[in-house]
Amino acid sequence: MSTQRRDRILAEMGIKPVWRLRELPAEVEREVSAEMHAEASVNEAPEPAQSHFESASEGRDAAAQYPADHLAANLDWDGLQQAVADCRACRLCERRKQAVLGVGDRQADWLFVGEGPGADEDERGEPFVGQAGKLLDAMLASISMERGKNVYIANAVKCRPPGNRTPEVDEMATCRPFLERQIGLIQPKLIVALGRPAAQTLLGGEPKISASRGRLFRFAGIPVIVTYHPAYLLRNLTDKAKAWEDLCFAQDEMAKL
Ligand code: URA
Repeated sequence: MSTQRRDRILAEMGIKPVWRLRELPAEVEREVSAEMHAEASVNEAPEPAQSHFESASEGRDAAAQYPADHLAANLDWDGLQQAVADCRACRLCERRKQAVLGVGDRQADWLFVGEGPGADEDERGEPFVGQAGKLLDAMLASISMERGKNVYIANAVKCRPPGNRTPEVDEMATCRPFLERQIGLIQPKLIVALGRPAAQTLLGGEPKISASRGRLFRFAGIPVIVTYHPAYLLRNLTDKAKAWEDLCFAQDEMAKL
């Protein structure tokens, strides 16, 4: 990639000053890049393929705990949209203006999963339309992508958590069948989890973003890459460069698929 092109896309993502600070002599830069690549390949190999379509249903009292589960599994897009709009399965329905299913290309290779709608999204019915959304659009542009073109954007929960708090684990679990159905319908080639709640609902456990970056996980056999949430990046500007590395890693992995 030419220096000019790199500068342009980093500027689009808003990380150009950070990149300048980190600028290295060409030969050192090559070594760092080779090391990063080696680290990524080591991480990818031992990761067990994990199907949450299967494991998510293990040991569930499905009717009581996951009321959306049976409903969601066989829905088409219209049915899913309606089921999400009508859902009253958890407390998040009480204060939402509207449920927010997702946006984008329903045959996309790329799926980005965020946390949950904020005030702007609750108002407009579309994910990532506020400040974090602007940064997400810049992040997409940094890897030559555009909202709606071969990319679908969804959230771990479809209703706004009051005060934009982080969704609770039980709220994400209740909403997960909807996300699972979205994934089943889209069949993306690669999923990018934006932030911890997204990683948690897709991968289970208590993932840490710093420890999960640069690794390849799986959801129902689909590769999952974890990076920072754009809202976090708005508060932690120096980590934008890491997010860009993660997107480049995702792009490299996509190219291999
Ligand atoms: N943050 C998210 O995680 N999702 C949105 O849709 C908006 C902000």
